[in-house]
Amino acid sequence: MTETSFYDAVGGEETFRRLVHRFYEGVAEDPILLPLYPESDLSGAEERLRGFLIQYWGGPNTYSQQRGHPRLRMRHMPFVIGEAERDAWLRHMRDAVDSLDLPDELETRLWDYLVYAAHSLVNSPT
Ligand code: HEM
Repeated sequence: MTETSFYDAVGGEETFRRLVHRFYEGVAEDPILLPLYPESDLSGAEERLRGFLIQYWGGPNTYSQQRGHPRLRMRHMPFVIGEAERDAWLRHMRDAVDSLDLPDELETRLWDYLVYAAHSLVNSPT
């Protein structure tokens, strides 16, 4: 018996594509978050976050083939992330998760992880 990964259970690449695209539509309009992004074109950032989440949830490991070990805390050090940035990030992610209309159990698992991960990346007192 092979176990279905979370990645497959939520609908594979297409679901993560929609999630992260919707998220970055929010970031593109956000006065707190947008200034943090080094590139004015957000498509590279979108690709990296999508690849990371796909890999994290059991899909192809393209992210690490291209970027190496995620080391997320280290990679976020150049950006000042306090409560305001964390909450803005989570607000857009909440909107993106809602747009997927996933079954409750899957939605809760995804959301709980994102909340935990966002809290773990705060690197600046507010
Ligand atoms: C990269 C901000 C939380 C995953 C970035 C970048 C910024 C940023 C400005 C650089 C964009 C780029 O790739 O060029 C933030 C802020 C957060 C946050 C303000 C609020 C807490 C998260 C969380 C995750 C995540 C919770 C994972 C669940 C990533 C990944 C990259 C990235 C995978 C690309 C890393 C790389 O390969 O270079 N983030 N982020 N971020 N972020 Fe976040």
